[in-house]
Amino acid sequence: MDYSITRQPLSELKADCLISGVFANHKLTSASQRLDQASNGALADLLKTAHLDKPGDSLLLHQVSGVGAKKLLLVCLGPKKEYKAAAWRTALASAIGQLNADKSRRLATSLLDDPWPGADGLRLAREAVLISEEALYRADSCKSAKNRDKASPKYPLQGLQFWTPDPTDGSALESAIEQGQAIAQGVNLAKDLANLPGNICTPSYLAEQAKKIGKQHKALKVSVLDEDDMEQLGMGALLSVSHGSRQPAKLIIMEYAGGKASAKPIALVGKGLTFDAGGISLKPGAGMDEMKYDMCGGASVIACLQAVAELKLPLNLVGLVPASENLPDGAANKPGDIVTSLSGQTIEILNTDAEGRLILCDTLTYAERFEPTAVIDIATLTGACIVALGDQASGLLANDQALADELLAAGQASNDRAWQLPLWEEYQKQLDSPFADMANIGGKGAGSITAACFLSRFAEKFHWAHLDIAGTAWKSGDKKGATGRPVPLLMQFLLQRAGDK
Ligand code: BES
Ligand code: MN
Ligand code: ZN
Repeated sequence: MDYSITRQPLSELKADCLISGVFANHKLTSASQRLDQASNGALADLLKTAHLDKPGDSLLLHQVSGVGAKKLLLVCLGPKKEYKAAAWRTALASAIGQLNADKSRRLATSLLDDPWPGADGLRLAREAVLISEEALYRADSCKSAKNRDKASPKYPLQGLQFWTPDPTDGSALESAIEQGQAIAQGVNLAKDLANLPGNICTPSYLAEQAKKIGKQHKALKVSVLDEDDMEQLGMGALLSVSHGSRQPAKLIIMEYAGGKASAKPIALVGKGLTFDAGGISLKPGAGMDEMKYDMCGGASVIACLQAVAELKLPLNLVGLVPASENLPDGAANKPGDIVTSLSGQTIEILNTDAEGRLILCDTLTYAERFEPTAVIDIATLTGACIVALGDQASGLLANDQALADELLAAGQASNDRAWQLPLWEEYQKQLDSPFADMANIGGKGAGSITAACFLSRFAEKFHWAHLDIAGTAWKSGDKKGATGRPVPLLMQFLLQRAGDK
């Protein structure tokens, strides 16, 4: 969909449908008041007959006198006293979803105007684009054309104009919309890659997609290490996972140069397990299909590099995605096997299902060569993180509190929140092994923390944070599908690092 800004008088806007907010108990927002005046009070009269109480309740009106748009959708923002972000999000999503099934193609909305006290108008504009794209997203690329057509709307939405009354800084709003579009495209890319099944989205497929993106941007260079390269380097931990699979592992390297040549890059490292059956420590069958989502961290990294290149952000950024399958096989890791990582540290593999940390640890060591100012890894790493935080917050652990604080704040600002867990020294001993430098699992308690403890041993040379997105990267049940998280959080962080707010 196309997004733009309009400053025409609200009642004169030409659109198939104009979306305007109202509060519960027939209270008008300031934008709706303008429309009411233009209609000589007809709007307030019509509203009295409707029951709009909860956020998202709506009333569709045709050809309201004095209003230029063909239709007017009044959408409820809930009680005025309680109005804040959650109600605004629900209202916008419900309006877009509803109008996508309507004959309207060109929409306009006044929902950016008149927010709650303390709201940041520019962030709101960015988020409005994300919410709209979220409402329109379909994962139907694997349906046959006939069924795809059946499910897709007859009159797909084409454009959304955001109305704003005499803004003080027009260009800031314009660039917020642009940022929203780039981030939304990133979120959609992350979802598309993640929703693909494991037989299509293999490590090689991921690498090809990354290369394709690289070709579209001058400042983006994409290269891929294959298993021979990894062998030469000594990535024994990563390779031990892919040996159990017929699909060769790939290490995707995306380098974006948008900052000064002398500026040290930020590095994003994303777990790209295109299917995790657990290996010899096989997972139970129920719900195992969802382990195609074990590459969501990698997808989010590829998506961020695309979005950053699209926005030409003035910074340097490296994306590293180790991609592999984890399957049971005669050549697969066995419990008790000991491997030597790229760092030289040896690892006793007590559970072959704790494979994410094995492919990540070698990639973290590899990240050292870029001399990064900060490294953030993103991984669907532990079921324990779902137990701890559910599907609301990603788990955050870090060896540098300033970096952790920055990411927590970025999560708040983008409504893609993370919650910090401790990385205390005392947890490290859970990884003791009698035979190797460490074990790859930490026993019963604190599974997300011991996983991060493991990674921290490969992140001693830089500021590092780890996002465990096991609970946030996709939804299960009848709404099954990737969420695109934490692309909004990461993009907010990167925009801030690039000097934006
Ligand atoms: N990819 C899984 C983690 C996971 C499980 C994410 C379920 C989302 C939903 C990871 O590779 C894994 O299997 N972790 C094990 C670690 C354990 C063996 C220490 C887990 O969480 O059970
Ligand atoms: Mn696993
Ligand atoms: Zn996994």
